[in-house]
Order: sequence, then structure tokens, then C-alpha cells
Amino acid sequence: MSYDVTAVRAHFPALGSADAPGAAHFDGPGGSQTPVQVADAVADVLRSAVANKGTVTAAERRATAIVDAARAAGADLVGGDPAGIVFGRSMTQLTYDFARTLAKTWGPGDEVVVTRLDHDANVRPWVQAATAAGATVRWAEFDPATGVLTTDDVARVLSARTRLVAVTAASNLLGSRPDVPTIAATAHDAGALVYVDGVHYTPHAFVDVAALGADFYACSPYKFLGPHLGMLAAAPALLEELRPDKLLPSSDMVPERFEFGTLPYEALAGTTAAIDFLAGLVPAPGSRRDRLAVSLEALEHHEQVLLSQLDSGLAELTGVERLGDPARHRTPTTLFTVAGVAPAEVYRALAERGVNAPAGTFYAYECAKVLGIEQEGAVRAGIAPYTNKSDVDRLLDGVAALRR
Ligand SMILES: Cc1ncc(COP(=O)(O)O)c(C=O)c1O
Repeated sequence: MSYDVTAVRAHFPALGSADAPGAAHFDGPGGSQTPVQVADAVADVLRSAVANKGTVTAAERRATAIVDAARAAGADLVGGDPAGIVFGRSMTQLTYDFARTLAKTWGPGDEVVVTRLDHDANVRPWVQAATAAGATVRWAEFDPATGVLTTDDVARVLSARTRLVAVTAASNLLGSRPDVPTIAATAHDAGALVYVDGVHYTPHAFVDVAALGADFYACSPYKFLGPHLGMLAAAPALLEELRPDKLLPSSDMVPERFEFGTLPYEALAGTTAAIDFLAGLVPAPGSRRDRLAVSLEALEHHEQVLLSQLDSGLAELTGVERLGDPARHRTPTTLFTVAGVAPAEVYRALAERGVNAPAGTFYAYECAKVLGIEQEGAVRAGIAPYTNKSDVDRLLDGVAALRR
């Protein structure tokens, strides 16, 4: 069954209608639009009787069911175990929490590997936790010409003292996708744990945490059509070994041990709805995980076709420079500059035409420095499940009109 983008778009109130189209949204890597099913799921929780989790009242049972359903959905999304799905406010918050917790057993002589390709949320928490513990930080460099971080780039900074490797599954600036399974296998051979930032990868690929070799896999539902929330997947047995600081009366069970305060039930229900929506992008039989496999393969094809249209359209425009190596397999994300026009100006001019493609460095702080764009940034266009050919035409027309 092929991907019907018109049918998909009909579920997104934010996109407007055929008669009154809204903006062309290329800002998905910053946060995606949400389908009405997600908005309804959030509103339904807020309209229902919900209490703290428990078993005595119907309101308590509803809260418990919402949390259980979200863990089951999160596990289906990434191929994990529901008992190893941890929710938090954001990926950044979860990563800070896990960095502090893991660093409790680090000391002088221990080493932590971070990469220059990563978003700062998978860099700074590790750098700061390692520094506080007296451990050493080792940096894996990447090639700015290709935007590729190779296994060798990581292997070069591994040692028998490496305790953790933090690596992205896809760059939120360039879309490039490190070979995480091989990097993880190499890190495991050195005795290190692997923490994978899946925030930019999850919306565009069928995730299998075991195949990736991720000991920890962090992502953000608001990047895959859901509400603003963070999610982390790990094996329950590994989580059992970790001792985060926590309140004395709060649950010491896994995964609750890592969730501080009361969970946002409405956002959890919205996350379940987003995952169900993704699983239904194209009709398919079987379990939710089976349907996610089919739907995400169809989505990937849809997005890659539009990416080729965007890439070749930009390539035809003189004065437009695309960063990284557009010929390489990557998420449907393109980073570009226009000669003689500041990225912020491109961003503003496109916005005036109803094309949302922001400029900046998008918190990929180290990556932007390596690319030499830390001052002005560049324009980022990300393709999402609701992007269609007409959106891409609008973007290309907008960029063409700008050139000097
Ligand atoms: C690749 C990547 N990692 C991490 C983050 C941080 O995610 P959160 O906003 O959930 O903390 C982002 C957000 O843009 C991102 O793109």
C-alpha cells in the first residue's frame, strides 16, 4: 500500500485546508505538527476523571492505564521493553538525569566519549557530569566535508577506560546517520555503555534498539507528531543497576525510579496516540510493531522522494550551498546557505511567503563550530510525514526569488 500524503495531511488542523492552505512546515526537526488524534487524546484525558496512579478509584485506575499504555506504545515504537521505558519532560532533562546517575560510579582515569556531530543535549550533560566526577572527556571528530562520523572516528578515542559513548543516530543539522550498530559493537568491545540520541532519527526510521546496540535510547515525542515530552528506552535489568537521587517515598521500582514527580498523563496519552497514528500511516495487518514497520518504511520512501526533489531543486539554484554531502543517505533534512543573503534573512523572507524553514545552529553547538557556521547558522529544511510536493515547490520558489 503506498503512502497517501493527502489523506495524512487531512488529519492536521495546523496545515489548513486545500482552500485555505497554511504555512509549508519545514520546521519539523525543531518540532512537528500534531494530528487531531493526538490533540483529542490529550483533551480526553483533561476532560476525564484522572487522579494519581492507583487501583482504588476509577480515576486512579485511569491514570495507571494511561501510563501502562504509553509504556507499551513507546516500547513498540523502538522495539524495547515496556518495563524499560522512562518518561521525562524532554530528552535534555532525561539525559542530564542519566548522566548524573551514571557518573556516580565514574572517577579519575575513567573516560567518556562524546562527538562533535551531536546536539548539545547529548554532549554537555556528559561533559559536565564527567568533569564533576574527575573523569576525562574524549571527543570524536567528524569530517565537515561529508558530515559523516565514522566508526573509526569513535574507535580512535576509545580505550579500556571508556565508560560511556554518547552518539547520535542522526544529526539534527545535517541529517547524516552514523553507523550506530558498528559504533556500539566497537564501544561494547571496549567495555563501554552506549547512549544513543534518537531525537532526530526516530521520526524518520523504524527503530530497533537491539539492532542499534543502544544501551540507552532517548527520543522526544514532539518530534514524531506527539506532545512535548521526552522518552528513554533501556533494558530493565540495566536500569535496575542504576541508583538515581530520588525522593524517599517515591517508587524504587524500574522504570518509576527515574521519573520524578507526577507524570503528565495527558502528554502520555498524546504520545500513545502519536505512535498509533504513525502505525496507521499506511494500512497494514498485524501488531502495532508490525504496522509501524510497514508504515515507517512507506514514510521513509515518501520522505526520501521529496528530499531528492528538494536536493535537486536546490542544486539547480546558483548561489545555494548545501552543507554536508547531499549524495549520502541521510534523514530528510537539508542545511543550506544562499550567497549574499544572511541565513536569518532567508528565514524571514521565506516566512513572509508562508514557508517555515528556520535558520540557526539548532543547539548542535559543536557541529556548527566544525562546519564554520557558528556565527550566522544556516537554513534548515526538514521533511515531515505531512510534507507534500507542493510544499517543496513553495520552498524552492522562495529560495529562487531570494538569490542576488
Ligand atoms: C538531535 C536532537 N537531540 C536532542 C534534542 C533535545 O530534545 P529535547 O527538546 O526533548 O530536550 C533535540 C532537539 O531539537 C535534537 O534535535
